Amino acid sequence: MKKIKVAVPATVANLVCGFDILGMALNDPFDIMEIELTDEPIIRIKHTDGFNLPEVTEQNVAGVALQALIADYGKKIGFNVTVCKNIKPGSGLGSSAAGSAGAVVAANFLLDNYYSKPDLVRFAMNGEKLATGVKHADNVAPCIYGGITLVRSVFPLDIISLPSPSLFVTVVHPQIEVKTADARQILRKEVQLKNAIKQWGNIAGLVAGILKNDISLIGRSLEDVIIEPVRSILIPGFDEVKSKSKEAGTLGGGISGSGPSIFMLSENEIIAKEVEQIMINMYNAIGIEFKTYVTTINSQGVKIIDSE
Ligand code: HSE
Repeated sequence: MKKIKVAVPATVANLVCGFDILGMALNDPFDIMEIELTDEPIIRIKHTDGFNLPEVTEQNVAGVALQALIADYGKKIGFNVTVCKNIKPGSGLGSSAAGSAGAVVAANFLLDNYYSKPDLVRFAMNGEKLATGVKHADNVAPCIYGGITLVRSVFPLDIISLPSPSLFVTVVHPQIEVKTADARQILRKEVQLKNAIKQWGNIAGLVAGILKNDISLIGRSLEDVIIEPVRSILIPGFDEVKSKSKEAGTLGGGISGSGPSIFMLSENEIIAKEVEQIMINMYNAIGIEFKTYVTTINSQGVKIIDSE
């Protein structure tokens, strides 16, 4: 196999209370990447999506992730990469993670699966470092593993794959850009003990709920008392979307990654679509362009769609 085409899923990081440690892959939207293995020690990157992302290897998330992989592989190889993004950069839906994770998973297929998933996460985190200044794995891990992942530790890397409950996910992406680096900068560096206790109760409850497939426990645990109160001020309409979605029967939700996208989890498609309508009405009323998705959890991660 010399050339491969993959579909790379969007991801929702944090899952409300699990800042930097929990994440989930979505079936929609997704990027398409084509990667060709060469014996020249060069990485060539081309974007066909019109987002104006840098194509210079050192400035491109796929480029730096592939550089890390090649440095480790230690043989004379290179890659030609063509990226068609549907996950808009700065959306909070793991756009940069998709670039780096998709590149290393596709490269690994071409190298006959030489590397393990934790190795690939390690390479892909270089893209996150480039994009956000921090090596966090809560987007790249679910993108590579599929489903829901828990990053117990980054150094050393310890990733736990959790079961995917059959829930519907409604996402609204208001078309304003929130840079992850900025959304991290505004966070308080210290946390009050009473808030920490609430937060780790919710994280433990959410993980237990996922493991036990206890939908009501999942819903009760979707609460963030540390990050959301600070970041939600960057997202017009956030509080109202959340409260109205709750009234419509969603389990709960919050900011997707560092925003501005908002996601809600629902037990069935009827509620998920009602939530979508609430989001549509809200952003039409505010007068901000937006995009919505009603989707499900992607349990597979990066998927091969063609190979030569
Ligand atoms: N956990 C990260 C954050 C995800 O919320 O800043 C964004 O890429």
